[in-house]
Amino acid sequence: METLQAEALAAIGDASDAAALRTLEVQLLGKKGTVTALSKGIREVPNEQKREYGQAANAVKTAVVTGIESRRAALQDAAITAELTDDTFDVTLPGTRTKGGTLHPLTQVQDRVEEIFQSMGYHVFDYPEVEDDFHNFQALNIPEDHPARDMQDTFWLESGHLLRTHTSPGQIRALQEYELPFRAVFPGKVFRYEAIDASHEHTFHQIEGIMVDKVVSAANLISAMKICLSEIFGREVTIRLRPGYFPFVEPGFELDMGCLICNGDGCRVCKQSGWVEFLGCGLIHPNVFRAAGIDSDKWQGWAFGMGLSRLVMMRYGIDDIRHLMGGDIRFLRQFG
Ligand code: FA5
Repeated sequence: METLQAEALAAIGDASDAAALRTLEVQLLGKKGTVTALSKGIREVPNEQKREYGQAANAVKTAVVTGIESRRAALQDAAITAELTDDTFDVTLPGTRTKGGTLHPLTQVQDRVEEIFQSMGYHVFDYPEVEDDFHNFQALNIPEDHPARDMQDTFWLESGHLLRTHTSPGQIRALQEYELPFRAVFPGKVFRYEAIDASHEHTFHQIEGIMVDKVVSAANLISAMKICLSEIFGREVTIRLRPGYFPFVEPGFELDMGCLICNGDGCRVCKQSGWVEFLGCGLIHPNVFRAAGIDSDKWQGWAFGMGLSRLVMMRYGIDDIRHLMGGDIRFLRQFG
């Protein structure tokens, strides 16, 4: 046993790399290894010597296992040191070029919309995605148990907060924060517990706009919308206004745009109607001003909430909204 241990440790010390050490490990400790055979040999030893034999065989095995482990660690250290001190490595070599990423189409359109509104004197704000009931509903003239809450199926958090169902809570935050008069847009991600289809997502993007001044009319609103949409599409677009119900505006409208995917012939995005519902808008309800602590006899305003995701679809001819948040790099590369 002593000879076997001495020879094994010498061979381990001589192993010049990880592969040689591994071969040696199999020869010594593998199923048919010499050290393994030593332990198996206990069967042939007379009973009274078994105890002494077993202890000695175990000691050999422990010494060999320890020897292999420390040799492996030493070889690894040596390899790292060799790599670090290798002076044939030229740090001045140019890097390998990788294909750069591109801005998401949503980001591109959002940037453009912000630019258009900024050029008309609007500020751009950003507000929380996790909202409270007051800002998302109550202050927008949607009290608890109001049927209008059913129009926006909501993801509630255990804390009683919610994932904002629209960008309109930003109206209240802006009205509370900024000195009047002001005009602003606030883009952002919104969340609804929706049945998903080609034009409905549970996570989508909107952009809200608001203008507050002493005298404000729906004509300003329509003109701002026409300018924005025509700038985005680089041509005159067809829009139509329908009466629409939103508790936070009075009167309220739905603004539709002629479908640019099918040019009005009918497709699955416009549900064969030739029109795509684009945004809700209207004149700010006095109760909204009151909730924000503003005298509604002195101030007037209008607001709109546009489906930014749908705008992107129209802009690039995307026929299914699910592509936008799908994260498929082959889809995203097309917008570089
Ligand atoms: C609202 O969210 C109101 N806050 C808009 C508003 C603001 C009205 C200010 C008046 C004044 P609505 O639920 O209709 O309204 O959504 C607005 C737009 O978001 C829709 O016109 C549509 O373009 C888009 N949208 C709504 N639901 C989805 C959805 N599930 N997936 C993608 N886009 C959607």
